[in-house]
Amino acid sequence: MSKPNAFYAQSGGVTAVINATASGVIETARKHRDKIANVYAGQNGIIGALIENMIDTNKESAKTIAGLRYTPGGAFGSARYKLKGIEENRREYERLIEVFKAHNIGYFFYNGGNDSMDTAHKVSQISQRMGFPVQCLGIPKTVDNDLPITDNCPGFGSVAKYVAVSTKEAALDVLSMAETSTKVFVLEVMGRHAGWIAAAGGLAGSGAPHEPPHIILFPEIPFVKRAFLKRVKECVRNYGYCVIVVSEGAAYANGKFLAEAGTKDAFGHAQLGGVAPIVAQMVRDNLGFKYHYAVADYLQRSARHIASATDVKQAYAVGEAAVKMALRGETAVMPVIKRVSDKPYRWRIDNAPLGRIANKEKMVPRRYISKDGFSITTAGRRYLEPLIRGEDYPPYINGLPDYVTLKSVPVSKKLNTKFVV
Ligand code: F6P
Repeated sequence: MSKPNAFYAQSGGVTAVINATASGVIETARKHRDKIANVYAGQNGIIGALIENMIDTNKESAKTIAGLRYTPGGAFGSARYKLKGIEENRREYERLIEVFKAHNIGYFFYNGGNDSMDTAHKVSQISQRMGFPVQCLGIPKTVDNDLPITDNCPGFGSVAKYVAVSTKEAALDVLSMAETSTKVFVLEVMGRHAGWIAAAGGLAGSGAPHEPPHIILFPEIPFVKRAFLKRVKECVRNYGYCVIVVSEGAAYANGKFLAEAGTKDAFGHAQLGGVAPIVAQMVRDNLGFKYHYAVADYLQRSARHIASATDVKQAYAVGEAAVKMALRGETAVMPVIKRVSDKPYRWRIDNAPLGRIANKEKMVPRRYISKDGFSITTAGRRYLEPLIRGEDYPPYINGLPDYVTLKSVPVSKKLNTKFVV
């Protein structure tokens, strides 16, 4: 059989550094052309494989692939597309293997979060059962930082830095206005069920009670309106203003989100968002304070201009490691970041079986959250601090980041059959 190709796909919500991982995968594969003929990338993730829409990365110059390291977004297009259980959804798995066979794909690199690790795991199983074994490797990515085993998830460090920086800067603005007008500022951040991004807001100050943010609302801590309003009132009385970081996943004790947009994605997750205006209005209605709020939304996960150098390095490293693991013959594993020490921050790459990662969510542990539930502890700070360290500015041209765009040359189709997803 001729040298196999590799298939690389981006999955789920993208990050400021997911393309750095793509760069790690492609550059490393190019160094091993004796074993990997080419890397095909899925246009819009796994959907690209199902409908045979793949991008030929060999047609991209070395300069462009290197430029992916500092370009945010998902260069090949991402998708939230869940392949269900093997038995209930044989048709899609069989199609995937049919496409892999037609294009001589021997390696599958799936760059995503918990749901994607489940898919990669299942594809590895079915490919063996169907007699066309494909080496399947998951590559971690999620701003939510909720994958187990790995110290952190590429994408998170950069969001954490953006949120910490924005909280620090906005707090100076509110402080300037507080005596005569605005008393409360609310920043809404992502994170779904896990409060890691909200926790990162805590890095904006030293942790002293008068320093912002004064309140963090975590999904892990049930929201109690009375206790929250009491705290806001105390902050305004004692410090003159109150800066709040609220997770989109903040919820009441009965599990009901403070804000739920009402739509669900393909993975069945509720679309969240819009909690900041709810919280701000609650303050206004009950305490009468003037407020401003911001919903960081996609700005936070695309903010490559203020990316964490640690995050960029780790994002590239997991891509590189996945290829090396595949070349060593490993399958159904994901490279994980193993923290060796906090200060100085040292880490190395290990691996973990996909079965131990798939569909599991790592929440912020209680010991990282203060007793009153409104801030981070010293242990939380020790965990978070190194992840936002260092700056890795993209090149600029005419005052703007000079990001790369791909030629995106399609791989010629080999199958006559059309597949509808
Ligand atoms: O899973 C990462 C994430 O950024 C979540 O924090 C957020 O809730 C969600 O994606 C938004 O997803 P989408 O871009 O599909 O609306």
